Amino acid sequence: MLKAQLTIDPAQQVAPVRRRTFGTFVEHLGRCVYTGIYEPGHPTADADGFRGDVLALTRELGVTTVRYPGGNFVSGYRWEDGVGPRERRPRRLDLAWHSTETNEIGVDEFVRWSRLAGLEPMMAVNLGTRGVLEAVDLLEYCNIPSGTTLSDLRVAGGAKEPHDIRIWCLGNEMDGPWQIGHKTAREYGRLAAETARAMRMVDPGLELVACGSSGSSMPTFGSWETTVLEETYDLVDHISCHAYYEEKDGDLGGFLACATDMEHFISTVVSIADQVGARLGSGKKISVSFDEWNIWYLSRHQSAPPPPDWPVAPPLLEDHYHLADAVAFGGLLVTLLRHSDRVAAACLAQLVNVIAPIMTEPGGRAWRQTTFHPFAQAARYASGDVLLTEPVGPSYETGEFGQVPVLHAVATHDDRFTTVFAVNRSVTEPLELELDTRALGAVRIAEATTLAHEDVYARNTADDPERVAPRPNTSHRSDPQRIVLPPVSWNVIRLTRA
Ligand code: AHR
Repeated sequence: MLKAQLTIDPAQQVAPVRRRTFGTFVEHLGRCVYTGIYEPGHPTADADGFRGDVLALTRELGVTTVRYPGGNFVSGYRWEDGVGPRERRPRRLDLAWHSTETNEIGVDEFVRWSRLAGLEPMMAVNLGTRGVLEAVDLLEYCNIPSGTTLSDLRVAGGAKEPHDIRIWCLGNEMDGPWQIGHKTAREYGRLAAETARAMRMVDPGLELVACGSSGSSMPTFGSWETTVLEETYDLVDHISCHAYYEEKDGDLGGFLACATDMEHFISTVVSIADQVGARLGSGKKISVSFDEWNIWYLSRHQSAPPPPDWPVAPPLLEDHYHLADAVAFGGLLVTLLRHSDRVAAACLAQLVNVIAPIMTEPGGRAWRQTTFHPFAQAARYASGDVLLTEPVGPSYETGEFGQVPVLHAVATHDDRFTTVFAVNRSVTEPLELELDTRALGAVRIAEATTLAHEDVYARNTADDPERVAPRPNTSHRSDPQRIVLPPVSWNVIRLTRA
């Protein structure tokens, strides 16, 4: 059996756990909105057409913020299409996803849904095909109480109170050649700066996110961040990172270590931001908004034929996640938490049906994918401060990342519980984890659960929704300092005073 040690010391604090780490993303894409969060006529739908089963699962998932309305969609979006009487809203081509957008859901309905779900909305403006004026108009529509044409339009539509959206994304993935209105870093940086300046004239207290790179393998990675931040440093608070991972060529060990790329991505962006800040003589620190991350079998999607005839809400990007996906996904959560000093927000992309932890049948059932579980557990149990933890143990060789540790872990600590989130990346071997808890005083394991399965490719389905779910781990019963983590597993260990 492999063995590793983890020392837990509450004096070694990285930063407080940030609730916005547990954000998500709802894009007008596929069945995320239509037959996802919204389906009038569904047996669980409320008077506004919001699915009650999806709302309940969203609450259970524990998400905190929700980014909207895209994604690639936002770069062709006219927000005005989605306000006012529904019968007058236009149907439009959505070029990003080759679909028809009916605009039944727009900003007011979305904010209403977010509030029902207990989520903070995070709004993206279109800087692909639009610019400063449209962004400021949307801000006025959303956040000005009343007394102007646009705010009064919102009030007339039934939203009496301002939406008071505090965090805004200045466009989406503007570095990507696939983006409608794709720009060079300098072009985007200038536009983002001018948009930010104008938005701050409306409300200086907004939090603004500039677009960073769509992935660490983008050819412009690094130079993009440098240029964009040179233009926007004093005007924005965060720079975005996006990353999606998938198992490639049957290399499961390499896939389970994909958080190594995320670690490198965050550290590189933070050092670039600090370098730009130092060159500008600024005392301000820019943080990271990791506002799209997930497992996504993008290569399968890219090889699929485009949908015919501009359908409404076609099933797109409906990845069905297995146990190994959930374990790799858990590793990404560990990394986000480990970087809580500089990662101020993160969004699991996306929430329902589209590369999502929640799946639905139109008119039918909703269920939890495997990835639902690590997210829900981390959102529920990560609390207080993130502790600096450096596991000591074996490593293994991967094609993509070289040597990586078998154990990937983080701990959080509050007045009542110290919680360890731990991934055993070994494809074949259980790992005995020895916890050095001397700095905590006398503690015991109050609860330990493991997400594992004898078939690492086991999935949950509507007919078998609990096939992959966390189960109690009782291997510590004989020695409370040692616990066995099965191969390819996500584990949560909760310590409390003995
Ligand atoms: O989340 C799916 C897509 O991935 C988003 O629309 C885009 O921003 C990213 O490329």
